[in-house]
Amino acid sequence: SLTNLARLRSPILCVLGHVDTGKTKLLDKVRKTNVQEGEAGGITQQIGATFFPMTNLRKLTDQVSHSVKVDYKIPGLLVIDTPGHESFSNLRSRGTSICDICVLVVDIMHGLEPQTIESLQLLKRRRCPFLVALNKIDRCYDWQPNKDSPIQDTLAKQKSHTVREFESRWQGIKGEIASQGLNADLYYENKNPRKVVSVVPTSAITGEGVPDLLLLGIQLTQKMLVDRLMLSEALEATVLEVKVTEGFGTTLDIILVHGELHEGDTIVVCGMQGPIVTTIRTLLTPHPMKELRVKNEYVHHKSIEASMAVALPPVTSSLQAAMGVKIAASGLEGAVAGTSLLRLEKEDDIEELKSSVMEDLEELKKDVDKSGKGVHVQASTLGALEALLDFLHNSSIPVASINIGPVHKKDVIRASAMLERAPDLAMILAFDVKIVPEAEALAKKAGIKIFTANIIYHLFDQFKSFMEEKKA
Ligand code: GTP
Ligand code: MG
Ligand code: NA
Repeated sequence: SLTNLARLRSPILCVLGHVDTGKTKLLDKVRKTNVQEGEAGGITQQIGATFFPMTNLRKLTDQVSHSVKVDYKIPGLLVIDTPGHESFSNLRSRGTSICDICVLVVDIMHGLEPQTIESLQLLKRRRCPFLVALNKIDRCYDWQPNKDSPIQDTLAKQKSHTVREFESRWQGIKGEIASQGLNADLYYENKNPRKVVSVVPTSAITGEGVPDLLLLGIQLTQKMLVDRLMLSEALEATVLEVKVTEGFGTTLDIILVHGELHEGDTIVVCGMQGPIVTTIRTLLTPHPMKELRVKNEYVHHKSIEASMAVALPPVTSSLQAAMGVKIAASGLEGAVAGTSLLRLEKEDDIEELKSSVMEDLEELKKDVDKSGKGVHVQASTLGALEALLDFLHNSSIPVASINIGPVHKKDVIRASAMLERAPDLAMILAFDVKIVPEAEALAKKAGIKIFTANIIYHLFDQFKSFMEEKKA
């Protein structure tokens, strides 16, 4: 019945895959946006979120919905984009931990690559249902574009040598997937979708196969996950990013997985200097089909739930639920991205909530060197900080202190404590954060070297070559 259906929340679909396989570009294709070209170095370095309402998905999948039978029961899809670069395995892990299904993107010209295999293992471990997008099919020789069309129509229009190339590449990749212990079939030949992974050939440039991919995603969630998608009242929310938003001060970008948030709710989040307890002043969402990461006009809400009725309000209605949510409140400076957001209820013990939000950060602090000798590390999010700490740990570089957010004078002062203890380590590694001018000036005066980069592996390279020079 409609009342039952109305209680299904939107599934969360996570896009995974090796660097440059076309994850962001595929989403750009669906959104008709250009997020990918705006990224530093063309690589994704944080988790992004976009809500696709069912009204839009219906239009986008119209051409394939005759051949793939599906009832549209869910209110929409929340799609999470993740980075493919090897440094971000923790963000991939976080993405898959909040999602219901995944799309693993494979470049048909490259086959399985290291982070494809890492992702496959992660999906197996999590028992997460997934599809494979076999992307960049337009790069097969002599490809005849067939803009935004279903894949079978497109393949039927290719010349025989193009189809032969496609077939032979696909057979090779099928073999590679088999050697990872999984069976895979092109989705329209797949007779056992519960056991065999469905593969959808796609192009993020010409759009072929994209309607098939969306429809299959909808079908997979509805078939396998009805129980999971039944709404629960309990709040489940993750902080994706902490950033200053024009007109709102420091804000949180969150993913609302379950439950409801209201203006005036008391929330508890992890802060660098300890737990933050504050009141939601404003709840905002980007417009549907827009990325939470990208500067947008926002829609205001009195309350937001992780669900949306099947009888959809028009897209412009303020009831338009979205689960990528921006929260404005006071005291959010120093909040840590990549941690849980909790709400204080009457019956809760506030001290319990406070210690619970601090758990992940406390875990990270264990990586800080007990000897008190090491470099100072600063990054934009907990995920990025984890990536940096991981790298430094593997390279046997001790870390004495960590922080999240822009580098201020106090961070330079902290690093300069090393001038006496271990002068070689009196430096700051800063990833994807601003250095405020006073901090920069002080560092210069004090002789603290600051390495900065907005591409994580550039930071590694700079730092490595600096250390090698010093050794020589
Ligand atoms: P990371 O986020 O850095 O892991 O990469 P990604 O998987 O998001 O790939 P991205 O969208 O950044 O695309 C990488 C490059 O491949 C870009 O230059 C895209 O234009 C190109 N590309 C992506 N999809 C396709 C496709 O289907 N066909 C062709 N020809 N090029 C593509
Ligand atoms: Mg990307
Ligand atoms: Na890329």
